[in-house]
Amino acid sequence: MEPNTHKLIHSFGALADLGQEIADTGDFIEMVRTSLHLLLGTLGIRRGAILECPSHLEVTNCLAVWGLGEDYQPRFMVEGSDREALRNLTSGALTTDSRTEPPQAELASFLSRHGEELRRQQIELIVPVIVRGNVTGLVLLGGKASAEPFTPEDIEVISAMVRHIGVGIYTHRLLAEVKQRAEENERLYQDLRAIYRDTVRAFAAAIDVKDTYTQGHSERVGKYSEIIAREMGWGENEVEGIAIAGYLHDIGKLAVERKIINAPYKIDAKESSELNRHPGAGFDILSPIHHPYADIPLMAKYHHERLDGRGYPDGLTDTQIPMGAKIVSLADSFDAMTTDRPYKTRRSFDEVIHDLRRNTGKQFDVLVVAAFCRALLKELNGETKERRFLKMLGKNYLDAEKDAPLLRELLNELDPPTQAAAGGA
Ligand SMILES: [Fe+2]
Repeated sequence: MEPNTHKLIHSFGALADLGQEIADTGDFIEMVRTSLHLLLGTLGIRRGAILECPSHLEVTNCLAVWGLGEDYQPRFMVEGSDREALRNLTSGALTTDSRTEPPQAELASFLSRHGEELRRQQIELIVPVIVRGNVTGLVLLGGKASAEPFTPEDIEVISAMVRHIGVGIYTHRLLAEVKQRAEENERLYQDLRAIYRDTVRAFAAAIDVKDTYTQGHSERVGKYSEIIAREMGWGENEVEGIAIAGYLHDIGKLAVERKIINAPYKIDAKESSELNRHPGAGFDILSPIHHPYADIPLMAKYHHERLDGRGYPDGLTDTQIPMGAKIVSLADSFDAMTTDRPYKTRRSFDEVIHDLRRNTGKQFDVLVVAAFCRALLKELNGETKERRFLKMLGKNYLDAEKDAPLLRELLNELDPPTQAAAGGA
């Protein structure tokens, strides 16, 4: 083989590699066209075409043409027996000129079907594109400009180039298929997530319907939890997860008698212990479900635990309580303090700050309280576009001028250890 042919074959190799990165159809067609030009140029051939015919296509699909007229789109039927014969061509190419060489008997049918058209287009050589032992396309070539016949060396060079072209096309198609499947999977996954989220919200609504005095409580706890986790630097997926945990934290109340939940008075010890079953019941309800987020059942189970070990159901202490449960716990308490209950009206913001000051380190985690204060302060200072607190608390509850200094003061006192420690679930 001549040295310049080596060089050209090398450049075809590069084109085949390029095929691996080309996902865009326009770039792909351009690559095939360039390959055809190179092939024709190498041997001084006037015209040609590259056709695709993977086994699922009965009729060829034209990818590139040159010198055959702009609008000419060769379409050939390639039957199973044709594929078999093309795969086993000993010369590597099929010549269409029956005067110089009798057509291979197995391809006589193919040539009798398309011979006339091939002659009309002055196609002299058909080279099958074979990838992994299968015919995946055809390269049609006209005669040389020099009018010399193709030599066995020419056929060898052409076959090598066609192999590279074949690999390029095959790789592109494979990647496109993989990409399409990945997109389908992504769509299915997003659909499933949407169904999951809708189901969760339906459950949250069911919980709140049962608890007539705390309408929207679950939804608000979900939103407060989300705000705190995001402020703590959690990733988007974990933030979504904690919102779900917030929506579902009281799902165990579905297993508690309605009259206890809705008692219009402060419940007695017996009723209280019945009500306190709800975190454990929630865990039992949520555990068998496969959640797309981590630790949802545990966050529900431990949302009434306290750092000092005086919480329930297990009396865990500080480091034993998952950070997610600590966040839901604060979100839950904040909403309880800032909404009217049957036996008490909501507290003023001063009183809430007072409660947070007194209970941080005993009931609430300092990092969680600090993140909550920072997020609220940002909204009061107008640093965030959304007015999420305002929407949940109503417009007459907060007073930026009076409340921002309270939050700053509390934040200074808390002086949370390191913000870096706040990240992650
Ligand atoms: Fe609860």
